[in-house]
Amino acid sequence: MKNHTIEPGARIVTIERHILDRQRDFPDASGTLTQLLYDIAIAGKLIASHTTRAGLADILGQTGAINVQGEEVQKLDVYAHRTMFQLNDHTGRLAVMGSEEEDDIIPIPAKYPTGKYVLLFDPLDGSSNIDVNVSVGTIFAIFRRKTESGPGTLEDCLQPGSAIVAAGYIVYGASTMLVYTTGQGVHGFTLDPSIGEFLLSHPNIRLPQTPKYFSANQGYHKRWSNGVQRYTRWLQGEDGGPSGLSLRYIGSMVADIHRNLLRGGVFYYPADAKAPNGKLRLLYEAIPIGFLIEQAGGYASDGRQPICQIQPTELHQRTPVFIGNRDLVEKAEEYIAKYDG
Ligand code: AHG
Ligand code: MN
Ligand code: MN
Repeated sequence: MKNHTIEPGARIVTIERHILDRQRDFPDASGTLTQLLYDIAIAGKLIASHTTRAGLADILGQTGAINVQGEEVQKLDVYAHRTMFQLNDHTGRLAVMGSEEEDDIIPIPAKYPTGKYVLLFDPLDGSSNIDVNVSVGTIFAIFRRKTESGPGTLEDCLQPGSAIVAAGYIVYGASTMLVYTTGQGVHGFTLDPSIGEFLLSHPNIRLPQTPKYFSANQGYHKRWSNGVQRYTRWLQGEDGGPSGLSLRYIGSMVADIHRNLLRGGVFYYPADAKAPNGKLRLLYEAIPIGFLIEQAGGYASDGRQPICQIQPTELHQRTPVFIGNRDLVEKAEEYIAKYDG
């Protein structure tokens, strides 16, 4: 299978057809997972329709609220959060949800049935970029509930990446793409606005062997540990490091990861003097993105251990992340072990 290129005249494959064609690979033969991914795709279309006219639909700017992260809540954060919730609260497919924008777990309203899946999401990733027309995204992770029945619990949400059922993101960029994995490879769908459907455009995405980029906010260089500072200089070609890596940093994790997934590279948001656990959230940023990148042949680490092996203990806990080509991420672990003890 050629790496994510579609032959001209190839058959039209929607998300549903893609999953049905490969139903045998899916642990859930009932199609519930297919429908859940479809619900997320519809939410993505609705959010996309708002991001493309954010400047017109009174969706720019802040709400004046501060979320559990201590960050200014953007209007589009709220819209995206509400859309993800409303597309999923009544379907009977979920036992519970968790969102970056809600302090606690989000129960399924009592009037609706509960189901066997758990949905954790970052409704709008890259909020600081909304008002300046730079790509943003939505990130999701799907687990199977651990509790037997009744309303889902925090325990159902606090699961390691090794237990994940499906993960993915929607990136609202020059085009809107949905990229997902259920553990059988990574597949990309591009939204055709003329028909409002996501069509398979990037089957079986694999990280290129030869990376092109490294992505980090070097404005924080002084706050980084000795090991991370030395690692960064290695990425720039010192100490026998690679020659020719370019620095690309957008400030929306989804957009930075998507570019590196297609072109190869490493994205890292390390711990720093002000944020001892880094900034990114384990459950709905690091785990889904880390699992997906590993499905494409890469590796996700917190600098010392695989992200997908970390047992979450809190809904919004943060973690340092180093995600991308395995050799680049393992080199980060090497520098941290050697210089940070
Ligand atoms: P969110 O908008 O969901 O809070 O996520 C923003 C995150 C992530 O998308 C990005 O990589 C990082 O914040 C950028 O942080 P800095 O501006 O500190 O580099
Ligand atoms: Mn985010
Ligand atoms: Mn967010």
